[in-house]
Amino acid sequence: MGARIISGTEIAAQIREELKQEVAGMKDKSGVVPGLVTILVGKNPASISYVTGKQKTAHELGFLSLQDDQPEDISEADLLALVDKYNRDPKIHGILVQLPLPKHINEKKILTAIDPDKDVDCFHPVNVGRLVIGGEEARFKPCTPAGIQELIVRSGFETSGAEVVVVGRSNIVGKPIALIMMQKGKGANSTVTVVHTGSKNMEAHCKRADILIVAAGVPGLVKPEWIKPGACVIDVGVNRVGEKKSEKTGKMVPILKGDVDFDAAKEIAGAITPVPGGVGPMTITMLMKNTVLSAKMSVK
Ligand code: GUN
Repeated sequence: MGARIISGTEIAAQIREELKQEVAGMKDKSGVVPGLVTILVGKNPASISYVTGKQKTAHELGFLSLQDDQPEDISEADLLALVDKYNRDPKIHGILVQLPLPKHINEKKILTAIDPDKDVDCFHPVNVGRLVIGGEEARFKPCTPAGIQELIVRSGFETSGAEVVVVGRSNIVGKPIALIMMQKGKGANSTVTVVHTGSKNMEAHCKRADILIVAAGVPGLVKPEWIKPGACVIDVGVNRVGEKKSEKTGKMVPILKGDVDFDAAKEIAGAITPVPGGVGPMTITMLMKNTVLSAKMSVK
């Protein structure tokens, strides 16, 4: 029997609808509208496309959405001053500086200048620390890992006591999703193993997983024989393996492949995310969720 396909596109749309209602309710009750600013330095085409997607979604949800474009040669001091301006702006609840930044700017310095309570990316060391401590301390969750957790929970998988195996130890996905899934509480409370390039027997660990989360950046790394029958498989990999002509537009578009051998894996897994259309659509949605949370916290 084939696996159930976990559609990130559908689940993201559902969460966005919930957020839209929440934003409208917040506006009615307290007059507060979530405000998100995205700062883009330079004209990197991929960054323009990401930022445009974030702004479009924020606008659709009824946010105050602000796009702040800065020239490639902006000085570090001027960028710090800009971040400070938004830190002090009470209408802004979320500040996102799109990465990567030009080489003459110290990315760490900029990210740590953002007020942790407006750091909706959850990249600030204070927020990473809050995530490590967990419980009441944890505010924002980083967007991609938060999206992964939502996909697992909304697909009906029991996480409490489940064996979760994470492949990859990046700061953006591997480490934070391991932290999130090991927290005490709903949608987590799992037994977590993290495997990485230094691990001795990746296959044996993966085979134990009730929930297998793969964020390695290696196309087709996980083979069907690595998967426990019936497991929930979340593929975070988005690897460009070539180009093809789009049937819709006639333009060349990248061919994307996940870290899991999808066609074979779907015969073994209980549920699996596709690439594209799995984890990808969740990331922007969780950014919106963090901004709504930040706005809510500002009302209290
Ligand atoms: N560049 C690529 N992905 C991201 C992201 O999630 N946040 C920021 N700030 N920059 C990015």
